[in-house]
Amino acid sequence: MTRKLFVTTALPYANAAFHIGHMMEYIQADIWVRLQRMLGHEVHFVCADDAHGAPIMIAADKAGLTPQEFVGRIAAGRKPYLQGFHIGFDNWHSTDGPENHALAKEIYLALRANGLIATRRIEQFFDPVKGMFLADRYIKGECPKCGAKDQYGDNCEVCGAVYAPTDLKNPYSVLSGATPELRSSEHFFFKLSDPRCVEFLQGWTQDGRLQPEVANKVKEWFSGDGLDDWDISRDAPYFGIEIPDARGKYFYVWLDAPVGYLASLKNLFGRLGLDFDAYLADPDVEQVHFIGKDIVTFHTLFWPAMLKFSGRKVPDHIFVHGFITVSGEKMSKSRGTGISPLRYLELGLDAEWLRYYIAAKLNAHVEDIDFNAEDFVARVNSDLVGKYINIASRAAGFIAKRFGGRLSADLGVEGRTLLDGLRAHRDTVAELYEAREYGKALREIMALADRVNGYVDQHKPWELAKQPGEDAVLHDVCSVCIEAFRVLTVYLKPVLPALAAKVEAFLQIEPLQWHDAARALGSHTIGAYQHLMQRVDTKLLDALFEPPAAPPAPTPGGEALAAEIGIDDFAKVDLRIAKIVAAERVEGSSKLLRLTLDVGEGKTRNVFSGIAGAYQPEDLAGKLTVMVANLAPRKMKFGLSEGMVLAASHADEKAHPGLYVLEPWPGAVPGLRVR
Ligand code: MSP
Ligand code: ZN
Repeated sequence: MTRKLFVTTALPYANAAFHIGHMMEYIQADIWVRLQRMLGHEVHFVCADDAHGAPIMIAADKAGLTPQEFVGRIAAGRKPYLQGFHIGFDNWHSTDGPENHALAKEIYLALRANGLIATRRIEQFFDPVKGMFLADRYIKGECPKCGAKDQYGDNCEVCGAVYAPTDLKNPYSVLSGATPELRSSEHFFFKLSDPRCVEFLQGWTQDGRLQPEVANKVKEWFSGDGLDDWDISRDAPYFGIEIPDARGKYFYVWLDAPVGYLASLKNLFGRLGLDFDAYLADPDVEQVHFIGKDIVTFHTLFWPAMLKFSGRKVPDHIFVHGFITVSGEKMSKSRGTGISPLRYLELGLDAEWLRYYIAAKLNAHVEDIDFNAEDFVARVNSDLVGKYINIASRAAGFIAKRFGGRLSADLGVEGRTLLDGLRAHRDTVAELYEAREYGKALREIMALADRVNGYVDQHKPWELAKQPGEDAVLHDVCSVCIEAFRVLTVYLKPVLPALAAKVEAFLQIEPLQWHDAARALGSHTIGAYQHLMQRVDTKLLDALFEPPAAPPAPTPGGEALAAEIGIDDFAKVDLRIAKIVAAERVEGSSKLLRLTLDVGEGKTRNVFSGIAGAYQPEDLAGKLTVMVANLAPRKMKFGLSEGMVLAASHADEKAHPGLYVLEPWPGAVPGLRVR
């Protein structure tokens, strides 16, 4: 029976480029999807950017962009990763798309009609400067237990104490530095504590559809006080979807994020002209979500309950994977790891090496895996290239040169036995992929490749080729190799789709399907062998691990660029047009001039400026320039300096003398702000 599969991966936050953790998830899901397609099943495989939430809103603000512009830029950068690693999504959408706005509201209204939405007032910290409520991560203060400064609102990194943000001493907003105020506000809750929800989830999570370790973990959440209601609203300003009949209230990002799975599918169906509602209502459709271990609650409690009690079909499988570390190091949320997927591609490393390597390490359990450079080189060079690619490269030349590219149909008893043995594994290999035991599947395939190599070593085609009268044997042996290579290519195709396409071109055959492993190619003419895959050059890997943050190239000013800042940082510097009312030499100083400046304040300022070496006082008087007007006054030997005049210079003033005071274009007047 043809299965109908709706498959997703988690929707990545649209506030950063992909890191290797994302690629690992996509590779895992993509391999599974490719297997299903090779088996003849119908798959819709979709993803989207998770666009909403406070962090994205704040990041956009810092970048001086609207949230829509900000996530648009991130989305525009997705393609090279997805294409580069051969991730075959049918659609990439956004949770800010119109489909998601509509679906999230529909689902919410259905839950409300079902009596599962409640409202309650809650007290929360509010940033009076930013005019917004603050999530715990935006509040810092002194630990109530040990007094350590700058601790987050939930726990102390110094003494390990756990507390509420309201327990912090001298709390401040990370966003503005202001002291937060406690304010109350009405929030909307999804009543997960409702007996209907609890009963449904106890069944759904424990009926065998989840991995055993996941089901056991979830079980713990039901013991104790039962399930808590889930706070699904956030107050404006928030980048999200406005809650129907509740002005200024938005869905918490995690409410509309999984709805994005459906929205992306709906968007795809719109393009394909298919009936989305009919598909989702079809009991034969299997809904499968690939996710990482950190987002299990959302996918095993909230999401299935949202679907169930809005009258929809619930997910069939949640496939949870562990995390990938690099050389044993955890990935930091903000910095990712030392290796970037894009840099990997740019350096010319083969995407399918990584697919193969990750697959070789994956199993069906929630286990972390590690990317280790030596291990990577060994697996790719000795297994993938050494065992599999080698089979073709050892036989193809003889077929082309000696037999006009034509394969022998006979193959000999031994050869046919070998091939039958290979073909007999097709169900086992498919089942291992199906069960996401990719490591086991690849070990099995490599064991089959070992058999073929044993056969080659035994028959030594390179020696047969030198012996007169052995042409028929040489033809059979080499044909067996090519046929074995084709069968192994079927088995590896979910992992190595681009390589398989090259093999199909070389063998001059149609795209390989799973059942092609069962049949024989027979007397068939193949094309010329082209190099299929290189060994890993360890120099490339070294380059991958070099710190990616190479210092920026020196500018003509001899100075590297300072660290990047946001518009907020820049806005702290108040630059004003100033008129130089008077300029005079300072007794006892060869460097300083005393400037009297008019900054449009109705009084003048006194500023000492180190420009005596470059300008005569009489050349400056009457001119306009730019000054930092909010610099704290500085007491100097010669008096108080109330600001700073801007001038350009080389980092190495001795080697490159020259100092250039800034002057605005005509028309500027004292007191105008420079922004
Ligand atoms: N936006 C949410 C998911 C919403 S799904 C409706 C999110 N985004 S994320 O960008 O932080 O993570 C996306 C996926 O990448 C998650 O499944 C997460 O577990 C996975 N990974 C993040 N870091 C990872 C590793 N280091 N290793 C493997 N997967 C990791 O969570
Ligand atoms: Zn502490």
